[in-house]
This record gives sequence, C-alpha cells and structure tokens, in this order.
Amino acid sequence: MRTQIVAGNWKMNCNLDETQKLVDALKVKDFSKSDVEVVIAPPYTNLHLAHLSLKDTPIKISAQNINENESGAFTGEISPAMLKSVGVSYVIIGHSERRAIYAETDELLAKKTSTAIKHGFKIMFCIGEVLEERKANKHFDVVKEQLDKGLFHLSAEELKQVVIAYEPVWAIGTGETASPEQAQDIHAYIRKVLAEKYSQDLADEISILYGGSVKPNNAKEIFAKKDVDGGLIGGASLDADSFAQIVASF
Ligand code: 13P
Repeated sequence: MRTQIVAGNWKMNCNLDETQKLVDALKVKDFSKSDVEVVIAPPYTNLHLAHLSLKDTPIKISAQNINENESGAFTGEISPAMLKSVGVSYVIIGHSERRAIYAETDELLAKKTSTAIKHGFKIMFCIGEVLEERKANKHFDVVKEQLDKGLFHLSAEELKQVVIAYEPVWAIGTGETASPEQAQDIHAYIRKVLAEKYSQDLADEISILYGGSVKPNNAKEIFAKKDVDGGLIGGASLDADSFAQIVASF
C-alpha cells in the first residue's frame, strides 16, 4: 500500500514566534494515531526550530527548495548539507511559484533532484499546468514533459525517494480546486507515465499528492479517489485545526 501523505507548504509565511505557536498547536494534535505521514515545510529560517519542537512527534520537516550545488560562492543560497544539519528530511522541488517567479527550468530541477537524492532527502516533486494549458487540453502533455525533463533521469531505485505533487497552477491560492474526477484522471495518467518509463510495480508504489486549494471541506472527496495519495496544502496548513482536519480526512 502506498504511503498517504499530507504536507503543509507554509510558503513565505510565519516568523519565528508564529512558527513556535503553530508547531505547538500541531504538537497537541497527536498525529501518531493516524497512518498518514504528516510533513510541514516552514521557511528556511524556521526549520531548525520546527525540527527541535517536533522531534518527539511523527511530523516530518521539509524544506521548500534545495540548491543544486554542494557549497561555495552562491550568495543567498542554502546548501543540502545545511538542510540536513537542521533536521530536514523532505525537500519540495519544482513548485510552480519557483518555476514561474524564479524562472527555475526543467534542466535546473533535474540537477536539484539529483542533488537531493544524493543527500538522502525525500523529494516532493511538483508538476502542473497553467489555466491556458488546461483550457487547450494540453495538461496531460505538460505534466508528462515536466516528469520527463525533471525526474526521469533518476534510476528506479532513486525514484523510490520521490513523491509527486500534482498542483494545477490555476487552483493554487485561488479557492478553485480541480474536481475529484479531474484530479483522479490526471493522477491516473501520471501513474501510467511512471509505469511506462519504469514499471507498473514501481508506479504503484509512488505516492501522488494533489495540491491546490485543498481545505477541510473538500479534502475528503479528493482523497477518496483511487490515485490520490494525499495533499500538498498551502493556505490551510497555516492553521493547525484546518491542517489536522485535512489529515483526518482519509
Ligand atoms: P493553496 O492550498 O494555498 O492553494 O496552495 C497550494 C500549494 O501551492 C501547495 O504547495
């Protein structure tokens, strides 16, 4: 059975005090009773605090990005070893905001995935189309190309460290979600592409998360779909009650 995962992408929200309050509120939720893997991705400056506060809980810590280099003259960047040293076990790679706002290309993302694998991180690799592509019925081709160029250089063994997050850009922060059927259709397609490239067995092992305006009131019907193995949650992950309700939606 595939791992069910609910991950909170805090994006550029929460200073140190706010982070402490939010992790304290998450800590009392007692996720240990659930089979769902719970992950939070605070901003870089708060990773260590989150790790220290949550180290006796099942909650895992993710970074929102990773640099493809080991160390050196890369002003303003954070190295993989630095992330390791503050208790990070997951990294998000290829979020649409990084692709669109920071011009991260498929080629760069391929380097980042290799670096992350080398350092033993689990990866949440984000893919998804913009509205024009969805309207033009190009979403299947778009995600296939993103997988091809960013991920498919990995070996089958390496791919086991990867979770895929399908996040249609038109559904991020808009309050509009893909319907459960739309999510299921494209998740099944992603799994088919994985099976064609690797094997059906491996494709059946990889968790595929849905992201884009997942809230407590819609999580249940999205997560009920066969090929939806969890969610990557933005806004609703900033509130401990909402996030816990989403985790409980399985
Ligand atoms: P929202 O849940 O705020 O739409 O964000 C989704 C997302 O981008 C998670 O990475």
